[in-house]
Amino acid sequence: MKVLIDRSGCVGHARCNNVAPALYPLDDNGYIASSGFSVPAGQEGLAQRGARACPERIIEVRDSPAEPRQVSAES
Ligand code: F3S
Repeated sequence: MKVLIDRSGCVGHARCNNVAPALYPLDDNGYIASSGFSVPAGQEGLAQRGARACPERIIEVRDSPAEPRQVSAES
């Protein structure tokens, strides 16, 4: 799962950050500091809640089933 953020549309509501501060960090001016990230395992729900919390709807959550799975180095 991936999150894409259109930073140019951020007006600083900070609701994303209130829901999930670790996933949606803000810069010194109170705007979203990230333009996107891969959602860490187990934090999908949090990422989605943060995205839904933004009134500007600039945070998009995408499932990425086509992404190649990490191959284990163990033999
Ligand atoms: Fe910006 Fe929306 Fe978060 S306007 S600070 S991305 S709630």
